[in-house]
Amino acid sequence: MKVLVVGGGGREHALIRRIKESKRVDSVACCPGNGGISYDAECYNVSATDIDGVVALAKEIKADFVVVAPDDPLVAGMVDALNGAGFPTFGPKANAEIIEGSKVFSKNLMLKYNIPTAEYKVFDNAEDVIEYIKEKNEFPTVIKADGLALGKGVIIPESLEEAEAGVKEIMEDKIFGESGNNVVVEEFLTGPEVSVLAFTDGKCVKPMVSSMDHKRALDGDKGLNTGGMGTVSPNPYYTDEVAKECMEKIFIPTIEAMNKEGRTFKGCLYFGLMITPKGPKVIEYNCRFGDPETQVVLPRLKTDIMDIFEAINNETLSDLDIEWSDEACTCVIMASGGYPKSYPKGIEITGLTDGQLDGVTVYHAGTSINDGRLVTSGGRVLGVTALGKDLNEALKKSYDAVEKIEFDGAHYRKDIGQRALKAISK
Ligand code: AMP
Ligand code: GLY
Repeated sequence: MKVLVVGGGGREHALIRRIKESKRVDSVACCPGNGGISYDAECYNVSATDIDGVVALAKEIKADFVVVAPDDPLVAGMVDALNGAGFPTFGPKANAEIIEGSKVFSKNLMLKYNIPTAEYKVFDNAEDVIEYIKEKNEFPTVIKADGLALGKGVIIPESLEEAEAGVKEIMEDKIFGESGNNVVVEEFLTGPEVSVLAFTDGKCVKPMVSSMDHKRALDGDKGLNTGGMGTVSPNPYYTDEVAKECMEKIFIPTIEAMNKEGRTFKGCLYFGLMITPKGPKVIEYNCRFGDPETQVVLPRLKTDIMDIFEAINNETLSDLDIEWSDEACTCVIMASGGYPKSYPKGIEITGLTDGQLDGVTVYHAGTSINDGRLVTSGGRVLGVTALGKDLNEALKKSYDAVEKIEFDGAHYRKDIGQRALKAISK
């Protein structure tokens, strides 16, 4: 088979590594890919959001299967377009993708089907939001833009002034465009967060091993929110007991709810969970693999990933046993100086040979190759990933490797996995 992967970040690199290892796969192509991915797949200069361009590319290279990884093309209906052109794909159709594409939809779904989540109210104008928040007078509170907002559509104001400023930006200045036409205001929940990615063919759901993201830019969970500065798997807060409760109260009910709504979800459904004192609750759904969660989950997968993708396509997932290794996996993100705000590009990266380093896997997120030199081309640059018999061993390998990789301005968190280690030692 020839498999085309749409996207060009660390998540796509992690997917490509597994796809490449499949006994059924002869070659992997990627669009647009990046510098590091180009060592593993043929990269084509077609944007991940260019639906016509991707369909044309799939035809040109005679792809046998297409994997659509990022949220934007999924929301825009790329899977529907590819299916229409006769290509088997991995990824939900646009009518199911709405579970991520609209927070109003997902909150209403959870309410209707009794799936545990934070209490909420939906608003379509700024004045009413502010009046409601004034009346409630409970801080912090949580305000979410309805649509996609590059992962930045959630604000957690500590005061009325902060809430007013945030609502103005989202609903009046429209910093996220149409995504801010409606907002959800919800109750602030507390507890550890767990990410669970799950395979589903709409008939059954098979959760993958759990992981923990580190969203803030700086050590101690300080600084601005980012796309994710590192991940570890497993997440110690996701005990067998919690997993059982999630399966019964969240995972299965969500799949059934989507079916009842006529929006059968096939692909990878991402459950962003908070383990509150009242049990696990859904913080968010994503219609895709998480980034950088994928980078620590897929290295632990023992089953051929193309067997899984095909089973989902054929709706025979329940017949497939998916196996995982007991090892721990850790990913430390090396980011450009300044990220998540503005940052320079084109800075030379040293310490890698053909994009890799012994003992770890370096998933490339924002790199390109210029005149034979590997340079930075994005905010998150590399995900330095290691497997170990336990979390400590994996972390040591990741951090030892990070020390050997250099580019001007590089910054990374020094405390990835520390929260998980504390939880384990309790
Ligand atoms: P999201 O973009 O939905 O993942 O939200 C970003 C982050 O905001 C989450 O990872 C949580 O840390 C936080 N968050 C979102 N909703 C809530 C909530 N209801 N209570 C507390 N924290 C929240
Ligand atoms: N790491 C969070 C996400 O992929 O949305």
